[in-house]
Amino acid sequence: MISIAPSILSADFARLGEEVRAVDEAGADWIHVDVMDGHFVPNITIGSAVVKAIRSYTTKPLDVHLMVAPVDAFLEPFADAGADSITVHAEAGPHLSRTLQRTRELGVRVGVAINPATPVTVVEHVLDDADLVLVMSVNPGFGGQRFIAATVEKVARLRALIGDRAVDVQVDGGIIVGNAAAVVSAGANVLVAGSAVFTGGPERYAANIADLREAASAE
Ligand code: DX5
Ligand code: ZN
Repeated sequence: MISIAPSILSADFARLGEEVRAVDEAGADWIHVDVMDGHFVPNITIGSAVVKAIRSYTTKPLDVHLMVAPVDAFLEPFADAGADSITVHAEAGPHLSRTLQRTRELGVRVGVAINPATPVTVVEHVLDDADLVLVMSVNPGFGGQRFIAATVEKVARLRALIGDRAVDVQVDGGIIVGNAAAVVSAGANVLVAGSAVFTGGPERYAANIADLREAASAE
């Protein structure tokens, strides 16, 4: 089962609630929420107050991606705001295992993200503490970037490390119809897509999601 997680970074921020509702109704499985602090990544987006504000616009899982360092102080505010999963970056601090344990204690799904230059072995010893590993296929901070092709082989290595654990593999950045099948064949089961979903405006969201879903399941 492949999940499509539209990233609202590419949505119209002036109408975020309606955009979340629209992409939910267009067939999104999860809603990917990109949180950027202007320190870990060279961009600032939204905080927990915005997650709280959009919570009532969808019943789909709010998949919060914290591009934040240090991150521990922000775990509880985002869990309280209604996040269903919280993904932290392995590169955000020296105590990843403790951060994941704290996230687990908050009762949300636990995710760990790795940047393009970070080897999958960095998460090897925390795979039992995570429900999801997010493999960045662009350098984080912006939507609309080009997919880094080396991600495909990296996803395959990660899926081999995960083995038979029930851990989702999410790929995030530059996902389009043209590369969806390759990342799924390599072992990804959750695709984050911002510009590919939101391009063309609300009247295109359902078709864009359907196109991605069809491409992802193509052999
Ligand atoms: C980048 C974000 C991604 C991005 C995806 O830092 O983590 O989720 O918004 O957007 P596209 O699909 O346009 O690359
Ligand atoms: Zn993201």
